[in-house]
Amino acid sequence: MFFEIRMKNHIAQLNYTLEKYLNNLKLSENELLYSLKYTLLAPCRRLRALMMIAFYELFGGKKEVIYKFAAALEMIQAYSLIHDDLPCMDNGLIRRGKECSHLKFGESTALLAGDALLTQAFEIISSDEILETKNALKCVNILASCAGVKGMVLGQFLDLKFLGHKVSEEEILEMYSLKTGALFIAASKIGALLAGANDSNVKLAGKYAEDLGICFQIVDDILDKDARLFKFEDGSSAEEMVAKLIIKCKEILRKFEGDISFLECLTDFIHRRIK
Ligand code: IPE
Ligand code: MG
Ligand code: MG
Repeated sequence: MFFEIRMKNHIAQLNYTLEKYLNNLKLSENELLYSLKYTLLAPCRRLRALMMIAFYELFGGKKEVIYKFAAALEMIQAYSLIHDDLPCMDNGLIRRGKECSHLKFGESTALLAGDALLTQAFEIISSDEILETKNALKCVNILASCAGVKGMVLGQFLDLKFLGHKVSEEEILEMYSLKTGALFIAASKIGALLAGANDSNVKLAGKYAEDLGICFQIVDDILDKDARLFKFEDGSSAEEMVAKLIIKCKEILRKFEGDISFLECLTDFIHRRIK
């Protein structure tokens, strides 16, 4: 219960940050702005933002700056989903409980909404005030590299390239780790770094996030009935692999000093989706 309240409070504060930021841009009301808000502000779990905030708090962070970084991450997440749903990618129908952006606003506006979100993400975290924060520039760099051609974008490319081809388990796990794990890694490392965690803890946070990201994607595939990885080379079913990864993630969490209860609940939250 306590977890749910904390989660709701963080989400409310994050949504407030996103709306305030968009209002402060003083943009004229037009289809592009509507389309951008349509996906960004639609109710959703905000898992990556919550992970970032959870690691920030675990290492003693107490400042509002974390919500700006979490907002930037959520903008990148929303952009990736809008583009993922385009006809040239997954040709999606429903996103966040509503018809996809390209169906509602047309393909070109959806494409531009994604472009705008990606760009705004870096605007919000590159203000003077933010860059005065310790490790902020390092965090901007982590976000860029996890989102880009070495990270999520590469994962999306591989996902489409692999479609309809026989690929190894190793290749699929690598693709999951990039397309989904990369933003989880950015979330955890940025949260830890902004709170001043040391290098080994930042690394460990990244390892937890990578495993949880892969786990999240396997759960997603189970729910989507995507049969690409329903049987693993070690004989595990997808459900068994998820259970193993959850245990591994929790083992990593126990290596941290401090209150890991919020992160444990967040880990269970992903597991519960298939139960
Ligand atoms: C979503 O991936 C986009 C990213 C991971 C960047 P998927 O295509 O696998 O997921 P859904 O089913 O559309 O949400
Ligand atoms: Mg996809
Ligand atoms: Mg998709």
